[in-house]
Amino acid sequence: MLPCPPDQVERIAVLGTGTIGASWAAYFLSRGLTVSAYDPMPDSEADLRRRIEAAWPALEQLGLPAAADPDRVTVHADPAGAVRDVQAVQENAPEFMDAKLALYEAMEPGLPDDAVMISSSSGLIMSELQKGRVGPERYVLGHPFNPPHLIPLVEVVGGTATDPAVVDWTLQFYEAIGKVAIRLNKEVPGHLVNRMQAAIWREAIDAVATGLASVEDVDRGLAYGPGLRWAVMGPHLICALAGGEGGMPNYIDHFGPSIERWWKDLGTPTLTPEVRRKLIEGVEAEAAGRTVPDLVRERDKLLLAVLGALGRARDELNKEKVASG
Ligand SMILES: NC(=O)c1ccc[n+]([C@@H]2O[C@H](COP(=O)([O-])OP(=O)(O)OC[C@H]3O[C@@H](n4cnc5c(N)ncnc54)[C@H](O)[C@@H]3O)[C@@H](O)[C@H]2O)c1
Repeated sequence: MLPCPPDQVERIAVLGTGTIGASWAAYFLSRGLTVSAYDPMPDSEADLRRRIEAAWPALEQLGLPAAADPDRVTVHADPAGAVRDVQAVQENAPEFMDAKLALYEAMEPGLPDDAVMISSSSGLIMSELQKGRVGPERYVLGHPFNPPHLIPLVEVVGGTATDPAVVDWTLQFYEAIGKVAIRLNKEVPGHLVNRMQAAIWREAIDAVATGLASVEDVDRGLAYGPGLRWAVMGPHLICALAGGEGGMPNYIDHFGPSIERWWKDLGTPTLTPEVRRKLIEGVEAEAAGRTVPDLVRERDKLLLAVLGALGRARDELNKEKVASG
């Protein structure tokens, strides 16, 4: 049973309004949805409203529909009250199985039979989260990237008990509100994209641990090199282009043997006290006095510039495609 067509969701609950939940709430409001929120922290309402207000100028810059309203949010004292008449829930409680299960238990008396329950969990397995739930088939994972109000990506995967129609509905719901949703065909620890990030970070740490390069140069190497290309195309297409006119077959035949040799040489560092110290000192040197809020401001300003430029360029490309038939 599904609550409505995925492009007609009007009311969503946001449970847990910390870093991710507050950002999701701002995003949902910016797409014209009504949000009902719950977080047990004292003063959570003031904190949530402050975070929505802080995110709003960026959302305005990205373009708002007429229905977008930062005040269309209600904050509830209990989770069952927050979910009472919603079509979907985005759960963002702390990343502990017990905390999430206790929240589901407390929420369920209010949850409409047809509501879809989406967890933002970065690492917990949906098959475990949905065990023993009322209507486990409507529990699904929708993993965003920080900050969800700016980064388009959401990974969607169901657990063993999830109805495949709920996975499809969730993918379509996210696409309908302007996200880029990707389907994972099975559950693995860390989902897909964090595993790829972890693979890069492993090599980045090894580079620092073995003295290959400083923390700052490792970061600059990625941000000013592959990071720029990855903002427009993923590694497979990028490699295909590196194969020239011969594309992917040429790339694999030409560079494959070298890359296989590099794979065998990649590092497998551990976070020893010494490595930890090098990373912390390296990041301090790279930040050069900028505080975390300073860096968040910088990151979001630059992200917004990239998103705006990419949006305009993609629109132009689409127009060119239409014009050329
Ligand atoms: N931080 C990230 O980069 C990131 C990215 C993607 C997904 N996630 C996932 O989002 C979820 C939340 O992470 P976060 O980084 O926002 O954590 P956070 O600590 O910033 O926020 C968690 C919020 O949950 C609240 N909370 C505590 N107990 C609760 C309960 N029983 N019911 C409801 N809320 C409760 C806390 O008061 C807090 O406001 C986690 O599952 C995490 O894996 C995090």
